[in-house]
Amino acid sequence: MSTGDGVAGRWDGVDIHFGEEGGRLTYGSYLRLAELLDQQRLESDPPAHDELLFITIHQVYELWFKQVLHELTASRDAMLSGELWLAEHLLRRVHTIERTLTQQVDILETMTPQDFGEFRHRLSPASGFQSVQFREIEFLSGAKDPSFVKRFRGLTETEKARLGQRLEAPTLWDAFLVVLGKAGFATDTEDDVRDALRKVAGDRGHYGAVWELAEALVQHDELAAAWRARHVVMVERMIGTKPGTGGSSGAGYLRSRLDLRYYPLLWDLRSSL
Ligand code: HEM
Repeated sequence: MSTGDGVAGRWDGVDIHFGEEGGRLTYGSYLRLAELLDQQRLESDPPAHDELLFITIHQVYELWFKQVLHELTASRDAMLSGELWLAEHLLRRVHTIERTLTQQVDILETMTPQDFGEFRHRLSPASGFQSVQFREIEFLSGAKDPSFVKRFRGLTETEKARLGQRLEAPTLWDAFLVVLGKAGFATDTEDDVRDALRKVAGDRGHYGAVWELAEALVQHDELAAAWRARHVVMVERMIGTKPGTGGSSGAGYLRSRLDLRYYPLLWDLRSSL
């Protein structure tokens, strides 16, 4: 039913008059747009045209990283509580975000090395290497490496605590081992786990939910690897063999990380199927 300047109706027993909420909430206030859109501060002076794109794209990545952490944490917890369907559902959402993250590199590549060069010298020693959320995703996924915390420059106490908690907390792989245990498999040794994975793969009629979850983990792993591969090629296109602003060798360092896999046993399994 329409009422002049709004739409009225009952939802869940509550009278709602859209457009007549007394201005309590607006699109802008709900999304905190004034604050959000005020966070793109250029370092270049006079302003380099492409720096806004560079800042925006990194901020968008960080927002998605926040969402990915939210989903991966819930997926791990769903595995721990035996809700395999929910764990898989959330991982599938993460896959979609991860595909978007890789595609976004295309937008940044519309920036030329010359245009990047106008402001790149202003960025050092800041670098994506210092992305706390990126490292949290790696730790939560299964690649815990405390040396990254030591190598971080300029961590705030809150960030250090967050990374510390991720290093302590169970990973997705730990949770998957709990799933295997509840399905009746021993998981004490690596050979136990290999054996369990072969049995799950060989009897999908019986272990279908566990198999699908394992596949969703492999997909997460593959999409993370795809991002790393896409990022390093973009880096080579932008800065060639120059060192990174974070102080690493640049593309050489990034290439050394391409073989990282969160779930090596799930990949090994392929060779025996
Ligand atoms: C012009 C574009 C970019 C260039 C030239 C670039 C360059 C680099 C380089 C050289 C490194 C190695 C560390 C260092 O010494 O700085 C690095 C690491 C990293 N960058 Fe980028 N990057 C770019 C865009 C992005 C974007 C858009 C993201 C999205 C968040 C990102 C995230 C990361 C992350 C997470 C690392 C750490 C990777 C790891 O340790 O495995 N970078 N980047």
